[in-house]
Amino acid sequence: MTHPTSTVRDRVLSLPSAELPAYVYDLTALREHVATVRSALPPHVELYYAAKANPEPEILTELAPYVDGYEVSSGGELAHVAKAVPRHPLAFGGPGKTPDEITAALERGVHRFHVESEHELRVLAELARCVVPGERVAVLLRFNLAVADGTLASSSLTMGGRPTPFGLDPSRAVPMLRALTDGTHPQLELRGIQAHLASGLDAPDLLAVARAVVTWAVGLGVPIGEVNVGGGMTVDYAQPESRFDWAAYGEGLARLADEYPDLTLRIEPGRALTAYCGWYATEVLDVKHSHGEEFAVVRGGTHHLRTPATKGHDQPCSVLEVDAWPHPWPRPASGGDRVTLTGQLCTPKDVLARHVHAPGLRAGDRVVFALAGAYAWNISHHDFLMHPRPGFHFLGAGGR
Ligand SMILES: Cc1ncc(COP(=O)(O)O)c(C=O)c1O
Repeated sequence: MTHPTSTVRDRVLSLPSAELPAYVYDLTALREHVATVRSALPPHVELYYAAKANPEPEILTELAPYVDGYEVSSGGELAHVAKAVPRHPLAFGGPGKTPDEITAALERGVHRFHVESEHELRVLAELARCVVPGERVAVLLRFNLAVADGTLASSSLTMGGRPTPFGLDPSRAVPMLRALTDGTHPQLELRGIQAHLASGLDAPDLLAVARAVVTWAVGLGVPIGEVNVGGGMTVDYAQPESRFDWAAYGEGLARLADEYPDLTLRIEPGRALTAYCGWYATEVLDVKHSHGEEFAVVRGGTHHLRTPATKGHDQPCSVLEVDAWPHPWPRPASGGDRVTLTGQLCTPKDVLARHVHAPGLRAGDRVVFALAGAYAWNISHHDFLMHPRPGFHFLGAGGR
């Protein structure tokens, strides 16, 4: 069980059934968390937020005082983030950037381009010449580096260190660096290296990755001013109370930065910044007994909160009991201790949490799923079965 903050709990209990399911964000909790993260990091290490984790404008705005910029990975994210938090530096990453997206990014003056292939470098160079003549566009080359065996083993999503479509193969480093330093593309300026290799790593593993990336980058033999070591800080859905060790990570980054005082280090986390501030709240519609197991069907499901389906975990949750029962017939209720919480979709994959300890769970009780502030609503297949969309509540906006 994972209990919602009192602000979230009160809001969830105050909502009429018809206004559920709902995403409820505790922006005060978000501010406190990000302030802690920021203060754990050395002041000169730059913190960008990977907007793909949760691009709600209210979230982007709350983060603004604590971050140095935002990482965007599509033309859509670029336009959205530039509108929500204007005048903040943007880094434009992602594989398969289209010419239209690159043009829009050039017109908006994005701070850094994370270039993922040789073809992309050529397209960027050509478009830069036409769209921003006379300007030099700042480039970080994204590489898919191999790191020491085992460092990425515990990752939940691996983008590097093995064959993937992300970034450049390290074997292409020499020609890429040459093209950026021998006058071939005078409109592009090599600023540094980017390597987001994996998500779901703990602080020691991510520090090992950061050290491997920095060591490789400074060994390239050309002046490298910046290294972006990506995001990927773990969020433990099985033990939500145990959080990524930002203090240890910050200390490790400080040691690394001290060894390379001329280098700007940058990180771009997503999940570990926003996961904890979001809750998906719903109510139990029905409770069923099936072949020896019990199931509670809730309003909504994985078409709103896809995270447990994509990651194959049980979304942590807690039950808020509601005593009122408006019908004259008996209230469906579980007879045992363990109930599997499913959604309204006609697929056995619509499972939010298996075998939850919820003795006596009844139709009409409310269930609040935690850690729903990242890769939740925005990665979900909303239109499947055409159920209504959830409500959205941002509590504590602007410090209130
Ligand atoms: C390039 C890049 N940077 C940063 C992130 C953020 O990763 P996380 O949310 O695990 O911190 C991602 C996630 O996929 C990514 O692809």
